[in-house]
Amino acid sequence: MAINMKGKDLISIHDLSQEEVWQILKTTEFLKTIQKTGDVYQPLKGKTLGMIFTKASTRTRVAFEVAIWQLGGHGLFLSAQDLQLRRGETIADTARVLSRYLDGIMIRTFDHNDVIELARYASIPVINGLTDLLHPTQALADIFTIYEKKGRLEGIKLTYVGDGNNVAHSLMFAGAKVGMQVTIATPPGYQPDPAIVAQAQEDARKTGASIQLAQDPHAAVRGADVIYTDVWASMGQEAEHDRRVKDLGDYQVNPRLMQEAGEGVLFMHCLPAHRGEEVTDEVADSPQSVIFDEAENRLHVHKAILALVM
Ligand code: CP
Ligand code: NVA
Repeated sequence: MAINMKGKDLISIHDLSQEEVWQILKTTEFLKTIQKTGDVYQPLKGKTLGMIFTKASTRTRVAFEVAIWQLGGHGLFLSAQDLQLRRGETIADTARVLSRYLDGIMIRTFDHNDVIELARYASIPVINGLTDLLHPTQALADIFTIYEKKGRLEGIKLTYVGDGNNVAHSLMFAGAKVGMQVTIATPPGYQPDPAIVAQAQEDARKTGASIQLAQDPHAAVRGADVIYTDVWASMGQEAEHDRRVKDLGDYQVNPRLMQEAGEGVLFMHCLPAHRGEEVTDEVADSPQSVIFDEAENRLHVHKAILALVM
């Protein structure tokens, strides 16, 4: 039976039930089919989504704006540079004011607590479009992509190689909800947040998933169905770039690492990629790479989220 998700925030996949995660995936499948057959489905006519960005974006911005438009609604890009937020208006007041105009808010920002604060004072759903801590809409598109390619999620072995960042955190949460075996291979000092790992492992116990940390990328990718990586210096870490490149150099996804995984392994990356750093061109452009399907699926997943919560 369908679960009513109207009015719900999407701040972390950890907050969703297993059934809600599957409802998002199944709705995504439905909406993608509709879009491919050229049918029109506009449940959000007359509704407006505000999209606040304090960081750069290509995929999230364009996919959310197209998503709301295809569903019959309107998307409003709000650069945090131009909002009164920048001049000291509180997040709480901003939330209360925007709730009088809009039907939903998507926000991409640095501090995860700012999103929690926004959601606390907004009377409309708030969707996390990436924080320093989490990137839930990305991970939902990622597991949808794996589901499409492999036909199942339970038991799928995903090895994330590189920096234990926001994307790695949300992949652990997503994998835990759907019974995947997620391994995060990082050098010392780049491990994911232990609190997130503990929460994901707690979620994993309920589904038979496993969430593990590793150090040796070669051992970690053996038998993997999916190898995933992300940039070594995330937005806001530009000053650490050179140190990170040095520390993470052995974690590059290159043809040798792909070969160590074995036959049929897929390559995934949330993009943007820093080609030549965390991934080589040979891998990013190989037949095993599904990075552009993954990027496309952001659109379909965003549509599902908006249709369900707005
Ligand atoms: N993957 C992702 O969120 O891309 P953007 O930074 O371009 O939105
Ligand atoms: N970890 C990256 C993801 C970009 C989509 C960042 O936060 O910059």
